[in-house]
Amino acid sequence: MKKILLTILLTVVLCSAWYLSASAEDSQGKKLYNGWCAQCHGYDGDAKSYTDKFSVPKPRDFTMGTYKFRSTPSGDPPTDADITKIVRNGNPGTSMPPWTRFTDDEVKAIVAHVKTFAPDIFKDAGKPITIGTPPKASAALIAKGKELFNKAKCVECHGKAGRGNGEKGWQENFKNDWGDPITPANYTHPWELRNGSTVEDIYRTISVGLGGTPMTSYMDSLKDEDRWALAVFIKSLQEQRKLGVAIKIKKTVAIPAKVDDPAWDSVEYMDLPMGGQLMFEPRDFTPLITNVRVRGLYSDKEFAIMVEWSDKKPNNGADGKPADTVWIQFPQKVTEEAEKPYFFMGDKKHPVYLWNWKASDAGKVTEQLAKGYDNVADLPKQDVTVIAGYNDGLYRVVYKRALKTGTKDDFEVLPGKFVPFSIVAFDGQNGESGIKGAVSSWYYLMLEPATPLRVYVFPPLVALCVFVGGLSLSRSLRSKK
Ligand code: HEC
Ligand code: HEC
Repeated sequence: MKKILLTILLTVVLCSAWYLSASAEDSQGKKLYNGWCAQCHGYDGDAKSYTDKFSVPKPRDFTMGTYKFRSTPSGDPPTDADITKIVRNGNPGTSMPPWTRFTDDEVKAIVAHVKTFAPDIFKDAGKPITIGTPPKASAALIAKGKELFNKAKCVECHGKAGRGNGEKGWQENFKNDWGDPITPANYTHPWELRNGSTVEDIYRTISVGLGGTPMTSYMDSLKDEDRWALAVFIKSLQEQRKLGVAIKIKKTVAIPAKVDDPAWDSVEYMDLPMGGQLMFEPRDFTPLITNVRVRGLYSDKEFAIMVEWSDKKPNNGADGKPADTVWIQFPQKVTEEAEKPYFFMGDKKHPVYLWNWKASDAGKVTEQLAKGYDNVADLPKQDVTVIAGYNDGLYRVVYKRALKTGTKDDFEVLPGKFVPFSIVAFDGQNGESGIKGAVSSWYYLMLEPATPLRVYVFPPLVALCVFVGGLSLSRSLRSKK
């Protein structure tokens, strides 16, 4: 009897110790969650929070138990490791930040708390799929992946060049299960991929899909080796950004007359990461244009700058949305120090020129003078011309102007001289217009002197060396006599 009582007592003590420790862990998780996550994901995990109005995508509503980022088959809950990964790494291109401030135990407690918002879903643990070793990329494998990309109809959503501009993506006006509009991914921008951009990540995305989105699982419909071939093909479309502070513009005999002239493809370019305009109302918290690529050429008389960016759906203003728009900004005065205007659209003391192009009047560019975001006027004399085109998810706008316009106050572009510039771009589909758009920081462009500088600098130096050398030689010869 004593033994039985003792066993019961021991069991009670152990159980309550377990219960207490478990609830202690829960309450730590809850405390941390309420402190750091609830302002976005809601205290009840339902994403009812003050950020849900201007966050695109919205923070996840955990109460539905649908998870986008999983290593488990479609329909299974994510593993703790999956949730931990997104908490640790954050979600690129969204407001979900990476969390490094927590210890591993703290993350474990937070993850346990997150799971309590959809307890039924997590009753049985999800089992991750096995991801083998990726095959070696080869031209043949990429070609096979490309074929499958068409055959499996990925192209209908993701577009021929994989820029996320497939027709179906737009005709169907995709929404995710949480009711928010979404668009197919642009493969050429690896920094926008939310489920990871390595070949293994892409294989996982194709295999298990993204929960709650039209990006479904292809585990059953495509063989393992086909999913790898697709992943290798998609990886081959990724472009790495070429970052810098200044773009060199080389001299050419004639500037290409068309935006798609193959001559442009071999011209050196620079990528400008774009962010939302946050200085003045209306601000843009969720710009869709994340990158703008610039390159240029010049001839004896004129110079050209091409601005290129991805846009999944072109808007020319005829569909009730604002027209897609891009400007280049230059300071009105280019000083010796190539001083950059501090403000977004200049100010009274530091006006900027805008070369304003709109898809609604694509053959035209308007030169404007801005002395602040609320003080913009068209210039009486227009010196800039433009050619523009949209092809398979990519805009190209080429601005052209004389090196010297002769217009009073206009800046000159001289070889070897640095000219500051910045870009502002608007995606009409995203409702961007006015000053609500994506902005770059300030960069420089410089026309590369046609004859490299050292040719001018070195001959006198070389001549001097030869002269001095000759002098000392003749002296030493004389002294030897
Ligand atoms: C500033 C807002 C914000 C904060 C703070 C925030 N999140 Fe997020 N979270 C988001 C957004 C936005 C997403 C992305 C939703 C999407 O991709 O559709 C996200 C996604 C997630 C996901 C991915 C869910 C899935 O579908 O796979 C998890 C898990 C997550 N957050 C957990 C947390 C945790 C835990 C914290 C606190 C430590 C936290 N978040 C803090 C905004 C936030
Ligand atoms: C019905 C339309 C549709 C089809 C068909 C489709 N996708 Fe997607 N895909 C999407 C959408 C929408 C997203 C973006 C989901 C999001 O970010 O919320 C996406 C995202 C992706 C991503 C990026 C995930 C990330 O990390 O952000 C990859 C890779 C991908 N799809 C590959 C494929 C492949 C390969 C196929 C064909 C086997 C395919 N998709 C077919 C709509 C589709």
